[in-house]
Amino acid sequence: MALHASTPDIRLLGISGSIRRESHCTAVLRSLQPLLPGSASIELFPLDDIPLYNADLDGDAPPTAVVRLKNAIAQANGLVLCSPEYNYGMPGVLKNAIDWASRPGFASPLKGKPVLIATASPGTAGGVRAQAQIRDALAATLARPVVRQHVAIANVGTRIRDGRLVDPSTLDFLRVALADLLQDIALLDSAASRSAGQG
Ligand SMILES: Cc1cc2nc3c(=O)[nH]c(=O)nc-3n(C[C@H](O)[C@H](O)[C@H](O)COP(=O)(O)O)c2cc1C
Repeated sequence: MALHASTPDIRLLGISGSIRRESHCTAVLRSLQPLLPGSASIELFPLDDIPLYNADLDGDAPPTAVVRLKNAIAQANGLVLCSPEYNYGMPGVLKNAIDWASRPGFASPLKGKPVLIATASPGTAGGVRAQAQIRDALAATLARPVVRQHVAIANVGTRIRDGRLVDPSTLDFLRVALADLLQDIALLDSAASRSAGQG
């Protein structure tokens, strides 16, 4: 069932939980466009310029980088997060971005947004221990993490060459994970159309 085939111009936003220049997670995100059907595209939003969350700054004129992040999320049909695991949890960089994007509470651009969660690590667990935290934080925002097998890329350094993921089996696995995200987007879209038709 290729529901996404009939949904044109799907825009995905990729967010890396690492702002390191040579980040493996960013390399994974950079490798996703060829795995998508022609109707879908992915852009990356780097978190380098997002300041630490401070409610004092979160008023009528939030920091420019935060406004750009929230607009990018609002305009995307779905998100792909790829994050390292730091001390068995999610890096502060990613949690901080989720915190900014989550306001106003329960009515933010994250509300209802389908999100594919991926983690990657040079270690053998693929960063999987961070995933529950990421999923929990997204649940608090009313986002919709894709329900599927975990995407946890172990020994990630061995699968990347020249800043791109090159391992065929990992690419195949990610292609299926992205199709699951696109399917969730299509399902939500058709549910929204149905309820608009009833209104
Ligand atoms: C503060 C810190 C904590 C880390 N904790 C873990 C960990 O708990 N599990 C793990 O697999 N790797 C851990 N690592 C290693 C990261 O997975 C590794 O640095 C990874 O390459 C970071 O992702 P990136 O390449 O996208 O920047 C840690 C690294 C740092 C800097």
